[in-house]
Amino acid sequence: MYINFWYPVCLAADLAPGAAVKARILGLPFVAFRGADGQAHVLADTCVHRGGALHKGRVVDGRIACPYHGWQFDGTGRCTLIPSLGADAAIPARAKVDAYPVIERYGIVFAFLGDLPEAERPPLYTVPEYDQPGWRSDLVTFDIDAYFERSIENGLDPVHNEFVHKLQGNIRFRPERMQVSSDELSSTVFVRMDPPKKGTTQLEHLRNDDNPEDFGASSGHYGANTLITRISLSRENKFVQYFFEQPIDDGHTRIFFINMRNCMLEEANDARMRQINLAIADEDISVITRLNPVRTPESSTKEVLVVGDEAIGRYRQHLTEWEQRGWRIDLAALRANAGDVAYAVPCPARRTSRNWVLDAVPLVPAAADAGARPSAGEGAA
Ligand code: FES
Ligand SMILES: [Fe+2]
Repeated sequence: MYINFWYPVCLAADLAPGAAVKARILGLPFVAFRGADGQAHVLADTCVHRGGALHKGRVVDGRIACPYHGWQFDGTGRCTLIPSLGADAAIPARAKVDAYPVIERYGIVFAFLGDLPEAERPPLYTVPEYDQPGWRSDLVTFDIDAYFERSIENGLDPVHNEFVHKLQGNIRFRPERMQVSSDELSSTVFVRMDPPKKGTTQLEHLRNDDNPEDFGASSGHYGANTLITRISLSRENKFVQYFFEQPIDDGHTRIFFINMRNCMLEEANDARMRQINLAIADEDISVITRLNPVRTPESSTKEVLVVGDEAIGRYRQHLTEWEQRGWRIDLAALRANAGDVAYAVPCPARRTSRNWVLDAVPLVPAAADAGARPSAGEGAA
């Protein structure tokens, strides 16, 4: 798992005014709540007094009050009130928790979980079709008992379709029809496919067999945890699927799934499209929850990658680059101290102020020669 990317925290609709929503991301606890102005905030969920779980507290005037002794923290993570000291008492400078940059978009509250200053952050992925005329979006979440990298890699794998997905009939992978491209934050694999045999999909009516060359699919990752799949059933009828993945921990993932479509636009089709998509996802889940080992092996000698795995290889190269920048969580160290140390993902304010109470999550040390962060890739906003 990696810091310094935007992660989905919760559905915006679940973050009602006055509510405190708990999220577990990268194996660590977070709390989301809204300030008095309605702005969403995301903080480390550990009170620095004596370890209270902030999400169990109340939101008072847009601040989260710890359930244990009532210390209040504002959206910047600063403690503004220690009730036992009185309203006018000075607050110790160390009474602060990590607070993360937040973007509320597409019906999702995203937080940047890392300490990079704004100019250096990989941007949140832009969904170009969102709110565009002629397109409809549908958002759903689901949880899988699998490591997030295994899910992203499954999306980048054009070979599994004909074996895992029965709905799609006979979509045969042909290596000569595959194109893989990369930039600094993403990799994409495009595959032109023969349309499935008639009668093998539930979306038969969206095909146009006059132009079979228009049938194809591409999938790509952006950053560590976003997966984009574009499916063209014909020149006119397309689906674009976005998985914004929330690694709950190193064996569980919550997927915030936005399905964009430019056909069957009536709301009444949402439920059917969802049912089709989740049935396809279930077929993937039945495979990726049983992979051994659970997490991607550290050494490439522990698997045999072949030509159809090229995009997966590119994704792993990107992950290695981010590890070399010092963004990879040291899982062994994290596990070794579980129960003894309260960790938080370091927030950007740690670059400019000191005296933090929570320990920064242990990271695999950066490579000595890691250069400056790459600039934003295509598709970024
Ligand atoms: S532990 Fe939070 S106020 Fe005491
Ligand atoms: Fe699949």
